[in-house]
This record gives sequence, structure tokens and C-alpha cells, in this order.
Amino acid sequence: MEVIHVSAECYPVAKAGGLGDVVGALPKYQNQAGHIAKVVMPMYKTKFLTNHEWEVVHKGYTNLGNWWFTYTIIKESKNVLGFDLYLVDVNGLLDREKIYGYDDDPERFTAFQICVVDWISAWEHRPDIIHVHDYHAGLIPFMVKYCYRYQHLQNIPTVLTIHNAQYQGWMGWDKSSFIPAWDSWKQGMLEWKGSINPLASGVKCAWKVTTVSWSYLDELRSAANGLEALFEYEKGKCSGILNGIDTHVWDPSTDTYIENHYGADDAEEGKMKNKKILCATFDLDINKPLIAFIGRLVGEKGADLLPQAIGDSFHHIGRTMNFLILGSGFPEVESALESLKVYGQGDYNAYIGYNESLSHLIYAGADFILMPSRVEPCGLNQMYAMRYGTVPMVRNTGGLRDTVIDYGDEGGYGIRFNYAAVGDVTQAIWRAVELYKDTEKLKEVREKMMRLDFSWETSVGHYIDLYKSL
Ligand code: ADP
Ligand code: GLC
Repeated sequence: MEVIHVSAECYPVAKAGGLGDVVGALPKYQNQAGHIAKVVMPMYKTKFLTNHEWEVVHKGYTNLGNWWFTYTIIKESKNVLGFDLYLVDVNGLLDREKIYGYDDDPERFTAFQICVVDWISAWEHRPDIIHVHDYHAGLIPFMVKYCYRYQHLQNIPTVLTIHNAQYQGWMGWDKSSFIPAWDSWKQGMLEWKGSINPLASGVKCAWKVTTVSWSYLDELRSAANGLEALFEYEKGKCSGILNGIDTHVWDPSTDTYIENHYGADDAEEGKMKNKKILCATFDLDINKPLIAFIGRLVGEKGADLLPQAIGDSFHHIGRTMNFLILGSGFPEVESALESLKVYGQGDYNAYIGYNESLSHLIYAGADFILMPSRVEPCGLNQMYAMRYGTVPMVRNTGGLRDTVIDYGDEGGYGIRFNYAAVGDVTQAIWRAVELYKDTEKLKEVREKMMRLDFSWETSVGHYIDLYKSL
């Protein structure tokens, strides 16, 4: 089976979060299972671009409304990622340093999608599946179904995977002319609540829709940033397929970002060596449990709860634990976390920014990973943490609910709490401190987690079954 994945991110080419990790891993495991999976993404100005060799495979000429432009599709020559990787080069529009965050993102991602469909339409054969990820590729199912010039692609099944329904790519109707001439009777297939909504359009037009965990799919019917009724209506074609993790990249016994490797049998010593480096670098106390947070400092992740929950913990539980934060996002949260450095000195520190190698060291050296998420479609941090013997402390939502069982419950190994509220987070911190004191229990929990299987193989099977059903 031949599948082409369309995405705005793909690790290690360009990653802003878990979408990149998933698109960098899923196709590799699909190939290993005997299928042909390829990835196409925008050509940003990245280190990966300059450090690898490329060949031009296609040049095309197309338009975004009245603006006609040439685009180039380049392919990475050596197959270093374990799948064919294609980049779409549109001069001046896509070749920028950041992935997102420009005023003309609607133009950028619409142009990207047009180029992808235009390129596929020039292939001598048809792929078996076009698999699009999130809103940045959400207009493609509409384009292949209803744009006159792509009618010959109409029969290719499309699958939309939703990694995050908070972001939908809303565009005003003034931008409708960007989409190549389409059947105007189908306007409703682009629209949600008065504007063009690429994510909603993807849900309406894709043959199948998947979310990255089962619980998240349930939750979308009551909380989907305005799309609740749509998910209820389309539930027949939606299913949840849990993400896996790339166990080649995320393996504490071989991880190229850390110096001190370890496995389930020598986790205690291995983790301690990594913790020592973290504590020395960030002026933390190695004798106290180290609770870390890694992620985008946004409301979805509950990052705004951290400053008060940390302050309250020091105040009510005592200075019996350390905290280390790695993240960037809302300026108010960043500055609150920065300010806390004075009060928390010696037991608290924060690195504001994105740092891939530090994230690996934290998974390896921390004792606990805190995830007070309000919304978590799947969450990869908790799975990485568990593989590194680091106990996840998670809010009971989405993929966190599907992957973490509280250590107090039968067969459990993590810490779960119900509300994204300071009180619940503080109580979870107290439970972490208590668990840390119980060295035997902690050891047992660690070993159990490290032997869990979060590899991609099972999920790949579910995706292939879904493709076959189409
Ligand atoms: P999301 O995609 O919503 O941000 P996930 O849990 O799926 O959440 O994935 C987050 C990914 O991004 C993980 O690989 C995590 O380690 C990484 N990450 C997030 N913030 C940072 C950061 N500041 N520095 C390094 N890695 C980060
Ligand atoms: C999104 C979600 C996250 C998920 C990731 C990969 O960014 O916020 O929960 O793990 O996509 O699917």
C-alpha cells in the first residue's frame, strides 16, 4: 500500500511539538511493516535542509488566487529517515525560519496544500491513500473532491488525523479565491460558523478521521473549540488510534543526547548520574525529588497553574522537592516562571526556550514529569518519561487518561489527578514526594513503566486496517 503523509512538521526536519515526532516516526514504521509511506512538508529554512543532499523531482506552476508562482518539489537523496521525504519550495512564502506564527500563515499553508495536490495530480500513478495531518493539510480532502482541476484524484481515499482540534486555521471568505476553482454548491463543505474552517472542512470531506487517542475523540463531542456538533454528527467515520513513540530515538540505553545510558535493570544508578548533571547545571538539590515540566507554556498544557502550584507546594509541603521547567509560550507565563527563580533559588529553575537535547536529559534525570494539561489529545511526554523511568503526574484527560494508570490502582504506575486546578496539582506534588520517600515502591513503579510497550507497531496495524477498509 502506498501512503503519502502531508504535514507541516516532521522530526528531525522541523518540529514544534508532538505532531513532528509522530510524522517523523509513523511512516518509518509503516515502511518497516512492508508498505510504502512518504512524507511531504513545506521547505522551511532549517539546519536539516542545509545538512542533507536533495534532488529536484518536480517543478510546477500554479496559483493562489491571482498570484501565479512556480514551486519545486525536492527529495532527500539518501533516505536517511527511513522513508522518502519531499519538501515543497515556494520562494519567499514557505522558506522561512519558523514553522508557524506569520501573519500570512493562511496564504502559506493554502499554497502548500495546492502545491501538494498539484504535484500528486502530475504523478503517473495514484497513491492508495492521502493521509493529512491537522488543519495545515485539512483543505486537501476538499480540494481532491471538489476542485474542478483535480477531479481525476476524486477516488483517492483521504484520511485526516487530528492531533489538536484547538487550532483550526480559520480564514475569512475573502480568501475563498485562494482555493482553486471549486463547485460553489459545496460551500458548506468549507464552512463552519461563518468562516472557512480548514479543520472542519477536513472532518467533513475526509473519508475517515482519526484522533490520536480514544478518550480525546470522546471529549471532542463535548469540547472541541466550537466543533462539538460536527464531531457528534460525523462520529460514524471517526476513530481513535493511540500514538506510539519512536523507540529508536527515545531509548535511555542508546539516546545520543545523553552521556549516561541505562536500562530497566540499572535505572537507579543511570538516572542518578543524569540527575547529577541537571542539579549541577541548574543549582538544584540532588537529595530531593526532581519534578520537571517540558512543553509549550500555554493554557492547554495548564502551564499557567505552575507558578502558583510550585509556590504553594514550597509553602504548604515544605522545601522537600525540586522543580525544573523547560518550555516557551505565553509571555505572562514565561515571566511568572522566570520571577519564581528568586523565591525558589536552590530548589527551582526554569529554562525558557526550546532545547531538544536538554529535554532528553530531563526525561533521563528527572524523577517525575508533571503534565497538568487542560487538553491533551495524546501527549508524548508521559510516554517518553515512562520509557526513561520517570514517573508521569498527569491530569485525567485525553491520551493521558489512556496511557497512565495511577500507582494506587491495580497494575498502576503513575500519578493521576482530576482537575486542572492548583489544589489538585499541589496534591499530586505531595503524592510524588511521598512516593519518592518509599524507595521500594518507586523502584517497582519504575521497572513496571520501563517495561511497558508504547512502540508504534500496534498503532501501525490499526492505521493499515483503516486504510484497507477504504
Ligand atoms: P504537543 O505536541 O501538544 O506540544 P506532545 O506531548 O505531543 O505535546 O509533544 C511535545 C513534544 O515536544 C515532546 O517531544 C517534547 O519533548 C517536546 N517539547 C516541548 N517543548 C519543548 C521544549 N521547550 N524544548 C524541547 N522539547 C520540547
Ligand atoms: C498534538 C497534541 C498532543 C499530541 C501530538 C501528537 O500537538 O497536543 O497531545 O501528542 O499532537 O499527536
